[in-house]
Amino acid sequence: MKIKGTGSAHPSLTLTNDMLAEFLDTSDEWIVSRTGIKQRQIMSDENLKDLAISAAKNALEDAGTDARDIDFIICSNVVNEYVTPSLSCLVHKGIDASCPCVDINAACSGFLYALQIAEAYQKAGMAKNILIVCAEEPTRMVDWNDRRTCVLFGDGAGAVVVTEGDDLKAIKVTNTSKTDVLYEQRCLEPTPFISKEEQNIPLQMKGQEVFKSAVSSSIKDITDVATEAGVALEEIDWFILHQANLRIVEGVCKLLRQDLSKFPHNVEFYGNTSSASIPMLLDEMNKRGDLKDGDKLVFSAFGAGFTTGACLIEWSAKK
Ligand code: UT7
Repeated sequence: MKIKGTGSAHPSLTLTNDMLAEFLDTSDEWIVSRTGIKQRQIMSDENLKDLAISAAKNALEDAGTDARDIDFIICSNVVNEYVTPSLSCLVHKGIDASCPCVDINAACSGFLYALQIAEAYQKAGMAKNILIVCAEEPTRMVDWNDRRTCVLFGDGAGAVVVTEGDDLKAIKVTNTSKTDVLYEQRCLEPTPFISKEEQNIPLQMKGQEVFKSAVSSSIKDITDVATEAGVALEEIDWFILHQANLRIVEGVCKLLRQDLSKFPHNVEFYGNTSSASIPMLLDEMNKRGDLKDGDKLVFSAFGAGFTTGACLIEWSAKK
């Protein structure tokens, strides 16, 4: 498999830390020192489906691929306004595609899960060109009175078009059933037959536990994919990590004994955008011309579940 094009889209409203401090007991100093986040783009009047469609069109244009030539669409999404049809169906309509499509929810690791599914489809001969769209609005999952969670997140969409090739050198995904460290619960429609107590519980997170799991799983996953690909860590040009917290990125960098310049980050400007964060950052780097032919890229993500994933890609510049 190889990545043929990238795209992204962001909501228009910029929410700075100082704006948060106007209604929450928090400060720019606390948020920057604990997370690196200075601001985030968040949903106001937009719909997530429009952002997802915009990122998808952007990636198709970059790949030079017509939507009619896409054989399969995978959307990674945790929540959006529609329960059904799936977000991938809405993207399908928005870009005028003609292929099957499906949504997956692997939380912040969704991009890695989607890449692995895409490669399996290609290997099985079921699809050649696959569109992956990661679109997320975690700002609609949190309690905006809870300073421990709401300051961390932003919304956005990132997309890639993948086609056949030999760029993906190794990929792994994992899950350990730590379902209580990061979760949100919501009520379904009542029925005359339901008597159990149900309640909406906005996003709950055991921050320090997630932080420690994130650092240790990233290190293990990155080491595993590098070993499988027969590539030394020193040979890797870019470590593109899920953008949840700058301190997690720095912690992984330090423990892997690598140079911080190989760990690009944009969490300062977008916060944690769940599974959209890696394809959004990849698009930024691709459009800026950071990625050279033959560069070795590692992606590594972690999220609710506790899911994780990593892969090693040798980037082919054009396509
Ligand atoms: O996509 C995966 C999802 N999540 C993550 O990757 C998050 C991983 N975890 C983290 O990034 C960090 O644990 C946080 C940034 C969430 C929290 O940082 P921390 O250094 O672990 O802080 P803490 O939870 O230990 O809280 C320290 C203090 C507490 O006050 P007390 O009890 O010591 O008086 C909190 O109430 O900081 C307080 N606090 C805040 N203060 C100002 C928590 N949130 C805030 C806030 N502003 N926004």
